[in-house]
Amino acid sequence: MLSEESKAEIRKIRDEYPDQKSALLPALYLAQRDFGGWLPDEAFDQVAAVMGLPVTAVAAVASFYTMFHRKPVGQYVIQVCTNISCSLLGAEHLLAHIGRNLGIGPGETTQDGRFTLLEVECLGSCGTAPMMQVNDRTYENLTVEKVEQILTRLAREDA
Ligand code: FES
Repeated sequence: MLSEESKAEIRKIRDEYPDQKSALLPALYLAQRDFGGWLPDEAFDQVAAVMGLPVTAVAAVASFYTMFHRKPVGQYVIQVCTNISCSLLGAEHLLAHIGRNLGIGPGETTQDGRFTLLEVECLGSCGTAPMMQVNDRTYENLTVEKVEQILTRLAREDA
């Protein structure tokens, strides 16, 4: 459920823009946080009500961006870019390696709810490809060894 603090924040952000739709990204970020990391239909309804927009406008924006999740995700959401720069430097190999390591494929979450693995389009770090993002943190110039270190550290942090 959208917290009263988030509703107030969304109204504040909304009122800063001449076009209310411009505030949808930060509003959806707040909603995703309040709903435990993903956006059920109820989240769209509540954001639309606070923003004074049709639910379809909220849903359209949320469905366009890969950082908004439509089903429950793990504690760590690993987004591996496989667009052209990353692909040329071995992103598919890294994606497969991470999948084998975690025992899941793209779009899946480990049974313990720790990790969700996603294959995504360009995340804007093409110059430091291959790259991935884990929650809000970006990891660049990846190698299998670097990925191993990151996964080991995340597994330890979560233990
Ligand atoms: S192609 Fe991977 S970040 Fe742009």
